[in-house]
Amino acid sequence: MTDALLQVKNVEKTYGKGANAFQALKNISFDMAPGEFVGIMGPSGSGKSTLLNVLATIDSPTKGEIHIEQDEIASLNEDKLADFRRHHLGFIFQDYNLLDSLTVRENILLPLAVAKRPVAEMKQRVDSITAAFGINTLLDKYPYQISGGQKQRTAACRALISDPKLVFADEPTGALDSASATDLLERLSKLNETQASTIMMVTHDAFAASFCRRILFIKDGRLSQEIFRRNLTRKQFFQQILDTLSSMGGAADDII
Ligand SMILES: Nc1ncnc2c1ncn2[C@@H]1O[C@H](COP(=O)(O)OP(=O)(O)OP(=O)(O)O)[C@@H](O)[C@H]1O
Ligand SMILES: [Mg+2]
Repeated sequence: MTDALLQVKNVEKTYGKGANAFQALKNISFDMAPGEFVGIMGPSGSGKSTLLNVLATIDSPTKGEIHIEQDEIASLNEDKLADFRRHHLGFIFQDYNLLDSLTVRENILLPLAVAKRPVAEMKQRVDSITAAFGINTLLDKYPYQISGGQKQRTAACRALISDPKLVFADEPTGALDSASATDLLERLSKLNETQASTIMMVTHDAFAASFCRRILFIKDGRLSQEIFRRNLTRKQFFQQILDTLSSMGGAADDII
């Protein structure tokens, strides 16, 4: 038995068919242990979002196996998969995906309401998570009344409120200014350290990636390199990420 939370074995993804077929992921294998904060980096079009979507069960692989704890994702039918997503996974997208007709509180509570959890538990959780993300004074506002950074923190609270085993974030800081981005990244990494949340984050930004503990680089659909932060400071790791990106070749502006 392995203690991996996520096991990815020889995963491939081909979009389209025949002459239009395009292989976006090629033979991807790696494991993720509970409590890891992993970044996925690579040039535009290298397959980062495809990988995240396949692992997050939003899309299915053409080949290979994905295990989350003891469950093999491909063996679950649509109902089981929806249930699995609801109970075990959290998602943070670049464009927030908040519902405009619901308040911040209602948006955050949505996953718990769908899972039919007790009201007292929901209230307690919303109070603690919004305090941790510094949006506890905004609970009765609507998305159009708050800033982009506050929307993204709302989306992060919604992703985390059900205490998912695994959180997937695709360019979560892409639409934020640098102060809001730093703020979100600090809160995510604090959560990773204090609550042992397991997070996978796609980013093309070396600064955002420097908050991770480990980074997988993908190039043309293949895993090409892997680096660990270990005892480096965030600034030292940032430099190592830049060095890795330049050693992988490709123009820096392809990536940053
Ligand atoms: N639905 C699709 N049908 C066909 N090809 C697709 C589809 N989605 C993505 N692709 C192709 O697969 C490749 C990988 O796309 P993907 O979105 O995973 O890249 P990415 O690394 O996330 O890029 P970016 O940094 O620009 O977001 C690209 O060449 C893209 O054109
Ligand atoms: Mg992408």
